[in-house]
Amino acid sequence: MTDLRSDRLTDLRADGAAALEWAAGYLERVAELPVLAQVEPGEIRARLPTSAPDDPEAFADVLRDLDEILLPGVTHWQHPRFFAYFACTSSEPAILAELLAATLNSVAILWRTAPAATELEGVVLDWVADLLGLPAGWHGHIEDSASTSTFAAIVAAREATGRDLIMCSEQAHSSVDKAARMLGMRLRKVPVDDEFRMRVDAVGDLSDAAVIVATVGTTAATAVDPVPPLVEACAASGTWLHVDGAYAGTAMVCPEFRWAFEGVDRADSVVVNAHKWMLTPTDCSLIWTRRPDDFRRAFSLVPEYLRTPDAEDALSLSEYGPALGRRFRALKLWAVLRCVGRSGLQRHIRSGVSLAEMFERWVDEADGWELCAPRRFSVVCFRLEGEDERNHALLERVNASGEIFISHCVLNGRYTLRLGVGQISTTEDDVRRAWEVLVREATRV
Ligand SMILES: Cc1ncc(COP(=O)(O)O)c(C=O)c1O
Repeated sequence: MTDLRSDRLTDLRADGAAALEWAAGYLERVAELPVLAQVEPGEIRARLPTSAPDDPEAFADVLRDLDEILLPGVTHWQHPRFFAYFACTSSEPAILAELLAATLNSVAILWRTAPAATELEGVVLDWVADLLGLPAGWHGHIEDSASTSTFAAIVAAREATGRDLIMCSEQAHSSVDKAARMLGMRLRKVPVDDEFRMRVDAVGDLSDAAVIVATVGTTAATAVDPVPPLVEACAASGTWLHVDGAYAGTAMVCPEFRWAFEGVDRADSVVVNAHKWMLTPTDCSLIWTRRPDDFRRAFSLVPEYLRTPDAEDALSLSEYGPALGRRFRALKLWAVLRCVGRSGLQRHIRSGVSLAEMFERWVDEADGWELCAPRRFSVVCFRLEGEDERNHALLERVNASGEIFISHCVLNGRYTLRLGVGQISTTEDDVRRAWEVLVREATRV
């Protein structure tokens, strides 16, 4: 039998240099690749062996197959003309930090199994809270996704209130529906106004509501629910207020967008995805709460084999969320915050917003096109005037071109196109190209 301890699985220096060269080269050439993978379902799988090799292969073979087999099946989220959904943009410091985190392979099941990972997580969450204007002293930790963060907040809210009703607007993200389904809780959707914000006058009786999920930057139109009156209503009825700022939260690094976080300092919990607009690769979802004891009551379950004498003094973040084994996600966020800084993040946000503003102006001034929602941040909702079918056909055509990738939503019952800016490498030329492709393809549908 092969002894893996004496075998060299790879030559970390030589193969590592090749992997880094691959990463740097990829980022340089990604703009020339089709944004949306041009493959059929099953095509990539069919090109791969049906079983693992019996004997070790060289890492160089893995890199070769990444290029030759997998790359055609990659939709390039790092592409400067990725305008679909919300951009999840990575950056060089975080790419390097992911390598280092995998090298350390800290598993933060307990403070003592990963003191540095645990304590750095607290520090970077404090730093980001400060950058975004959130109160000092809140407990913050990292989950894999906003879906998990919101799920955790809802579990804590149920624990704190003993109630089983979740409320959110009709425009809230589907992760709230999913949490309700997983938890067997009731869900009531509140209608929205003509700017897609939750209608406070339609919230009604909250006496049996465990939690309201308010969204700052909804998935479709990036609407901002009115947090201040919801804070008041929740305080009066003992309801937990959770704020989903998964996308727009990062914009709070710029003072000019802080209006959207008004009242959030009095919410019970808030989630912001660093893996959306904060230059940190997936996964890295940040959740803060001013009620950590409720999270701990909901999630702490320490079996005998994990009991340690330092438990009294040391925080184990696994007691604040669903997962036991937690990876060292704070390292990549720390690297981003240090190498980009507040000013770099502000430049990134402002650039995305001003490019979206420019695109919005072109749509507004063009005959035959219409804007469908007020633009709050870096997303523009728009459509060709007329039938949904034409807009649907247009979306399919522009995405099939490989030149850009945009997505859609439904607003006021109408099929709506959606262009979101957020990639670190997107320039004015890329947004101009998007508009040219849309105008060109519109004449063909
Ligand atoms: C407003 C909002 N909340 C939550 C989510 C879910 O994010 P995640 O993929 O991190 O679960 C999204 C996804 O785009 C979103 O737009």
